[in-house]
Amino acid sequence: MEDLKAKYLTAIAEAADESALESLRVAAVGKKGEVSLKMRELGKMTPEERQVAGPALNALKDEINSALSAKKAALADAALDERLRSEWLDVTLPGRQRPAGTLHPISQVSEEVAAIFADMGFAVAEGPRVESDWYNFDALNIPGHHPARAEMDTFYMKRAEGDNRPPHVLRTHTSPVQIRSMQEHGAPLRVICPGGVYRCDYDQTHTPMFHQVEGLAIDKDISMANLKWVLEEFVRSYFEVDDVELRFRASHFPFTEPSAEVDIRCSWEGGQLKVGEGDDWLEILGSGMVHPKVLEAGGIDPAEWQGFAFGMGIDRIAMLKYGIPDLRAFFDSDLRWLRNYGFRALDVPTINAGLSR
Ligand code: PHE
Repeated sequence: MEDLKAKYLTAIAEAADESALESLRVAAVGKKGEVSLKMRELGKMTPEERQVAGPALNALKDEINSALSAKKAALADAALDERLRSEWLDVTLPGRQRPAGTLHPISQVSEEVAAIFADMGFAVAEGPRVESDWYNFDALNIPGHHPARAEMDTFYMKRAEGDNRPPHVLRTHTSPVQIRSMQEHGAPLRVICPGGVYRCDYDQTHTPMFHQVEGLAIDKDISMANLKWVLEEFVRSYFEVDDVELRFRASHFPFTEPSAEVDIRCSWEGGQLKVGEGDDWLEILGSGMVHPKVLEAGGIDPAEWQGFAFGMGIDRIAMLKYGIPDLRAFFDSDLRWLRNYGFRALDVPTINAGLSR
């Protein structure tokens, strides 16, 4: 009995975890454990022997059981201590600020433009960037042989082998959304359509992906005068100055007649781009009266309705307003640049609260 006692108490003291402890319990005081088997032998003993051995075995059993539960508690304490050591948290430390993201100037300017035109009754419409050649060209009165298709430096999507339909394109302008909006809503209509467009072109003022905002107003008696007023009103609001000078140059687009390109007076002195002063002009948009064929393609009767349209470069007007000299920086994803030129995400531009801060 002394041997059993020494054997189990040592093993229990050395047990490394709960499962080792459980094996020891089974081996000692389980149904077929060594101590239990000894207790069964009590029946074969004489009453005198039993009177000595019985209490002694019971005492051994109790001792082993209490050693087991003491060890179990000690193991649990150790596990808790270990967790407390590894998972501690100093609640008195100051809160950790997440690095604040900023709104890209193009997103900011798109919001500003939408806010200004919303105030003039224009809704926002959107269309896909991968566009059929019908929406991007044909419906806008640019037939297959037209030089404008080549001039636009179009990116064509690849068709599967053996598929001879004309390829889709990455839209070269937001004008296809004119057609989609006319088809969806009919006339009268007042929408702007902001979004990304693509042309194979790359220098300080051109990137292969850039942003435009299309404007389209259709009603019974809309004229070039309305176009001019809306654009001047927009530019005054957007640049938050009264004396911004616009220059309307007679031009040509297949989808407008007559057409005008609009430049804004600016200076580039010392690499700083400033609007409203200087001897330079930066083209910011193309515009004109919607061509009757375009109205027809959109399902609107040109004998009854007419309208103006314009397409403005969002990146261009962002450069002008925020003094960003190189367009390519918009697309570099340089964090230092984004921190410097970015906007706080929760400062939503509105006409009343101010467009920019
Ligand atoms: N889509 C023309 C361009 O990208 C701009 C434009 C839009 C011109 C609407 C006239 C009317 O250059």
